[in-house]
Amino acid sequence: METNKIVVVLACVLVVIGVIGVCEGDRREGGLRRNFYKDTCPNAEQIVKDLTEKRVSERPNLPAKLLRLHFHDCFVRGCDGSVLLNSTAENSAERDALFNKGLEGFDVIDEIKAEMEAQCPGVVSCADILALAARDAVSSAFDGPLWQVLAGRRDGTVSRKEEVSANIPSPFFNLDQLKQNFAAKKLSVHDLIVLSGAHTIGRAHCNLFSKRVFNFSGNGDEDPSLNSDYAEFLKSECRGLNDVTTTVEMDPGSSTTFDTGYYSALLQNEGLFTSDAALLTDDHSRMTITHLVREHEFLREFAKSMQKLAAVEVLTGQDGQIRTVCGLVNS
Ligand code: HEM
Ligand SMILES: *[C@@H]1O[C@H](CO)[C@@H](O)[C@H](O)[C@H]1NC(C)=O
Ligand SMILES: *[C@@H]1O[C@H](CO)[C@@H](O)[C@H](O)[C@H]1NC(C)=O
Repeated sequence: METNKIVVVLACVLVVIGVIGVCEGDRREGGLRRNFYKDTCPNAEQIVKDLTEKRVSERPNLPAKLLRLHFHDCFVRGCDGSVLLNSTAENSAERDALFNKGLEGFDVIDEIKAEMEAQCPGVVSCADILALAARDAVSSAFDGPLWQVLAGRRDGTVSRKEEVSANIPSPFFNLDQLKQNFAAKKLSVHDLIVLSGAHTIGRAHCNLFSKRVFNFSGNGDEDPSLNSDYAEFLKSECRGLNDVTTTVEMDPGSSTTFDTGYYSALLQNEGLFTSDAALLTDDHSRMTITHLVREHEFLREFAKSMQKLAAVEVLTGQDGQIRTVCGLVNS
């Protein structure tokens, strides 16, 4: 009898410890954890935040640059910092691919990494720095972080220019192509629509949408799915079909404000790319957009989908390495 009681009590104690362990064991996603650097580099997240906010205050376009850089990192070989590697004599790296033209913010990541190496050498990955900096840059206009970034990513050692166009979605994609592209990263249509809201900040080059306004079906016409006033405006901004230098705001009038302007624009047929307008081409995704146009819905959904994006095919544990310099594989 007595031993039975003891066994029951012991079992209960173990269950309680187990439950506490699960609650405390910091939320995990694909092997990533909260407070990953708590013991090894307690200031890591603060270092990223301070330097990022300092640079954002000088460069209002930096949030857009870092957010896109993070996305392009995650969609090619997972969020492993491969987009940050420089080309070498033997290898052309991702950042030199056509689809990655216009990526910026590498210098800020390098600067943060240098500070990190000074304080905790060999501990904090470039992939984590990029994920944190993108979050902190976009959040800098808000009271607190817009989404949680779990850490523990390790850096990849491979970056190939020729892998970019097969993985980064094209602005000329239709909805089916976009769905497939996201599904390949285990992201849903919902994630696609929510994450496309990132286009509420930043700018785009004319040649990526100029066919829609100058020569849609080959006889000098406009894309009928595009608001005609907006098409006239875009024509006046771009020099012509082959203008590869002019850029326009993707969310006209509020391209440095992280708001729901992207979805309001979409609903007025003012989605800039074919891939933006494509989100209106089925009833279900149109419904999602009418939902996301409410700010608190958008911010809540964006936080969820960003966590999924930031966990795509991550290297953890003993995989990969912690680069010393983000542009170079350790020698
Ligand atoms: C859904 C498929 C997507 C397509 C086809 C797409 C395509 C593009 C293109 C063509 C540009 C313009 C680049 C330029 O002209 O310099 C751009 C800009 C941008 N994209 Fe996307 N994108 C997609 C999804 C995303 C996602 C998921 C994010 C982040 C979560 C994102 C963040 C951005 C940002 C912030 C910019 C502005 C960059 C800047 O101002 O330099 N995009 N995107
Ligand atoms: C418009 O497209 C058609 C068909 O592709 C082409 O023949 C024509 O030259 C284009 N117009 C311009 C101004 O480039
Ligand atoms: C990588 O290339 C950029 C641009 O050419 C350069 O500014 C940077 O110093 C390079 N980084 C490394 C580590 O070589």
